[in-house]
Amino acid sequence: MNKELELSFKILNNVYSSGAYASIELNKNYSEKLNFNLVTKIVYGVMDYDVKLGYFISLFYSKAPKAQVKTLLKLAAYVAMEVDSIPKYAIVNELVEIAKHSKLKPYTSFINAVLKKMVNSEFVLPDSKNKQQFLSVKHSKPIWFVDLLLKTLPYEEAISYLSCELPTDTHIRINTLKCEIDNFIAILDNRNIAYKPSFSADSLFVDYSELVRHKDLVGLYTPQGIPSMIVAKNVVGTQILDACSAPGGKAVYAATLNAQSSVIACDIHAHRIKLINDYKQNMGVSNLESLKLDASKFNSEFENKFDCVLLDVPCSGLGVVSKKPDMLIKDEPNILKIAELQYKILENNAKYLQVGGTLIYSTCTITKEENENILNKFLNEHPNFKIANVETFGVPCVDTCGFKTFYPHISKTEGFFIGKLVRYE
Ligand SMILES: C[S@@+](CC[C@H](N)C(=O)[O-])C[C@H]1O[C@@H](n2cnc3c(N)ncnc32)[C@H](O)[C@@H]1O
Repeated sequence: MNKELELSFKILNNVYSSGAYASIELNKNYSEKLNFNLVTKIVYGVMDYDVKLGYFISLFYSKAPKAQVKTLLKLAAYVAMEVDSIPKYAIVNELVEIAKHSKLKPYTSFINAVLKKMVNSEFVLPDSKNKQQFLSVKHSKPIWFVDLLLKTLPYEEAISYLSCELPTDTHIRINTLKCEIDNFIAILDNRNIAYKPSFSADSLFVDYSELVRHKDLVGLYTPQGIPSMIVAKNVVGTQILDACSAPGGKAVYAATLNAQSSVIACDIHAHRIKLINDYKQNMGVSNLESLKLDASKFNSEFENKFDCVLLDVPCSGLGVVSKKPDMLIKDEPNILKIAELQYKILENNAKYLQVGGTLIYSTCTITKEENENILNKFLNEHPNFKIANVETFGVPCVDTCGFKTFYPHISKTEGFFIGKLVRYE
């Protein structure tokens, strides 16, 4: 049996049937004995193309088969469309073999018949008269996501958003606590590791698959997205609270930039506090303490204590679906419920700010309900706060009610939102 297809099927089954995270499943199953790059490509490719593949396979049966059969058919359709190294006859033979040796044995003849027809058929988009279905299949995004974009942005912009492809190189931050920027770049040059400059002197786009092979460089850099760095660069203070901090990307960078400050990095989950501690240690940060705390509950010890509070709140994550395609194969998020928690966290943590202090509110989503609506409601109910300017360091973005929204097609980054408020009384 083809080992790559077998492992891809196993991982995809866990993702689709048990809600497992693809990245964790891939790490767990890593092996040098097979072409792991191909497995990674197939797993992420199937999830990325989930809607498109779901539409395509549905053309070959009248009654929907069970979920695992669908996963196998999607895998076959993806490999037929995108993987030249496996011939079409082999896709059919190998996947029928895999089915025979799994719980899908009773469905082997159905699978065989569908695969034979499917791998030799061309993919054709549905009729564009049904605009939502057409856009959904063309861009392989669920209808609810297309609807949400059409509700959030003018039509042409929603199309640009859906069509936008972000750079495939990974964005990294150089850890200036351990290495001078020039020295790090000299190391990359000496080792012929490809890189491109980015918006900030301490960040680069790199070929990550090459960089990670240089184990001695661990700790000298960290993968970090542009908006995440911009959030941390807006954090200025001496007593800093990051109330929703794990795994610590923004808190650790804020601690690095505010070397004289003391940063308290909280999270509600104990296992995620460990991520902050490991990350802090890896990056060599000493002015940061972690604490397990529920940000939606009042903690009197923090009242009026901080001159900067960062709220990178839990959100629907719809701005980062290109990096985390697993999100779109799950059910539509309940945005109003998420927004309720976000508002609670904002109201509670605003009490921890000193007069004159700054509050940074950020999300990795682009829905108004989780972004400007939350901050505007807060401003209406708390007249002692006003909007302050978010510095964006030359990265193009959209001013949304005095706050900043990063859209992939405009900013060439993940979708993100940053708002800044000052308590002046
Ligand atoms: C968007 S992530 C934070 C990412 C982080 N700021 C970074 O840059 O690495 C949101 C975090 O909020 C945490 N969280 C969710 N509900 C919370 C609550 N009620 N109190 C504190 N943290 C919470 C989650 O565990 C998650 O780690």
